[in-house]
Amino acid sequence: MDQLAGKVAVITGGGSGLGRELAVQCAAAGMRLVLADVDETGLAETMALLPAGAEVVTRRVDVSDAAAVEALSDLTYKSFGATHLLFNNAGVFVSGPTWTTTAEDWNWVLGVNLMGVVHGVRSFVPRMLEGGEAGRIINTASLAGLTSVPGSSVYCASKHAVVTLSECLHHELTAARANIGVSVLCPAFFKTGIAESDRNRPQALASTNPDGEEYARRLKAAIEAGRLSATRIAEITMEAISVDRFYIIPHRGALAQTEQRMRDIIEQRPPTNPYAGRD
Ligand SMILES: NC(=O)c1ccc[n+]([C@@H]2O[C@H](COP(=O)([O-])OP(=O)(O)OC[C@H]3O[C@@H](n4cnc5c(N)ncnc54)[C@H](O)[C@@H]3O)[C@@H](O)[C@H]2O)c1
Repeated sequence: MDQLAGKVAVITGGGSGLGRELAVQCAAAGMRLVLADVDETGLAETMALLPAGAEVVTRRVDVSDAAAVEALSDLTYKSFGATHLLFNNAGVFVSGPTWTTTAEDWNWVLGVNLMGVVHGVRSFVPRMLEGGEAGRIINTASLAGLTSVPGSSVYCASKHAVVTLSECLHHELTAARANIGVSVLCPAFFKTGIAESDRNRPQALASTNPDGEEYARRLKAAIEAGRLSATRIAEITMEAISVDRFYIIPHRGALAQTEQRMRDIIEQRPPTNPYAGRD
């Protein structure tokens, strides 16, 4: 899809990091925007970066809440009609060895990272199919959706699920001869607020994992050292959308890690730690 002016983009997690950069670039392309986030201050900060005259609707939405995402779809339809680009992007992170992760860790991260995408697809795609206009769903997964990172099983499980969900969705929309494409975005580390994900963690699912901190410290360092900016990741994503690419893998080195995992599987040997030697 390359003619974006006047079309409609819905971006979850639009109040920070990558979602904010996608909003800036979609608005620069002349798109009308619906931005959703649990962080209303962040949404206002994103709004302030958009060109004067941009048509934008913002809404506080918890993407793990099916009814809230359904209401977002209604709001989008009433405000602008058809959705053309749906960015299921909101995401959060927890760390720690799998055996000390808590039920709350799993409920929170799977609720946002996986069910947020599921709700986005369930609430928006039927309307996109009915409308018949060309569209694209861009699900933000991660390189952690293609590899297995020690100390990140909760996050990796959520992102692997987003990758396979996206592949299934692609097959289904192709079989239905729908004019709707799918992309799955799999970046490695880049600098955003993801290392401070706890800022949006509901009190009812508060962290009690005693052993998460060491891994969280390492994550923060890796994010800070990220070679590509969120702006660049958003640019690469928009370029990939313009040529209808399914897998969007912005970082050099990510393919080698992915290939290593595939080779381990094919050759039936134990998994290689992609971060061995970096601890
Ligand atoms: N930054 C990285 O290194 C990296 C790498 C790979 C993938 N990702 C993915 O990129 C996406 C964007 O994250 P980011 O790096 O920009 O982080 P970020 O923390 O800067 O932005 C995430 C946004 O999601 C929002 N959010 C959190 N919970 C929500 C909920 N329940 N409902 C709605 N919104 C919610 C936050 O308020 C925040 O505005 C995520 O899916 C993340 O997993 C990030």
